[in-house]
Amino acid sequence: NLMSVLAALAAYLIGSLSFAVIVSRAMGLSDPRTYGSGNPGATNVLRSGSKPAAIVTLLLDAAKGWLPVMLVKWFGPAWGLGEGTQALAGLAAFLGHLYPVFFGFTGGKGVATAVGVLIAFEPLLALAALLTFAIIVAFFRYVSLASIVAAVFAPAYYLLVDGVAWQASGAKTLAMVAMGLLLIWRHRENIQRLLAGTESKLGARKK
Ligand code: G3P
Repeated sequence: NLMSVLAALAAYLIGSLSFAVIVSRAMGLSDPRTYGSGNPGATNVLRSGSKPAAIVTLLLDAAKGWLPVMLVKWFGPAWGLGEGTQALAGLAAFLGHLYPVFFGFTGGKGVATAVGVLIAFEPLLALAALLTFAIIVAFFRYVSLASIVAAVFAPAYYLLVDGVAWQASGAKTLAMVAMGLLLIWRHRENIQRLLAGTESKLGARKK
């Protein structure tokens, strides 16, 4: 369906707004791709020392995952668009963040954007994933590790709760699994650093 394709395309373009770079530029900070892990994401922006910039990046990167799905949820039915297009829009926004057309296709790792998509899919599921994330961060202080663990648990929670009640949407499950796999793939350098014991902990500054 043409409308689904257009919705996915629009979501991809919104996802392509790399807010770590945009916000840093707007606030006069250096480009997050030039220091720390080099990742254009809130975690790395925090390493610049600016908490406000990191928080704004986090919120905007999450919002760009949330908004496309919600737009399809609100206005899709009038155009015959259902859950499948919601799932597609969420995945497309996530892919935009990873491979942004406006930034030479070098984007981030997708954690904040995936959270935004999850909030739009199912707020309680997002809450469960965020709690999982928070527990791992509290114990180990590694954002990357917490992101990876939460990415594994999110589809599991979804299938456990909605799946058992036969309410789970196949398209949303697929989108979540795809996002989880891509998220982990994008963390492969973090995984190597975690295994080597050289991953930087939350809040540690790096030039
Ligand atoms: O925001 C992504 C996070 O999980 C890891 O970021 O900069 O430590 O590679 P970073």
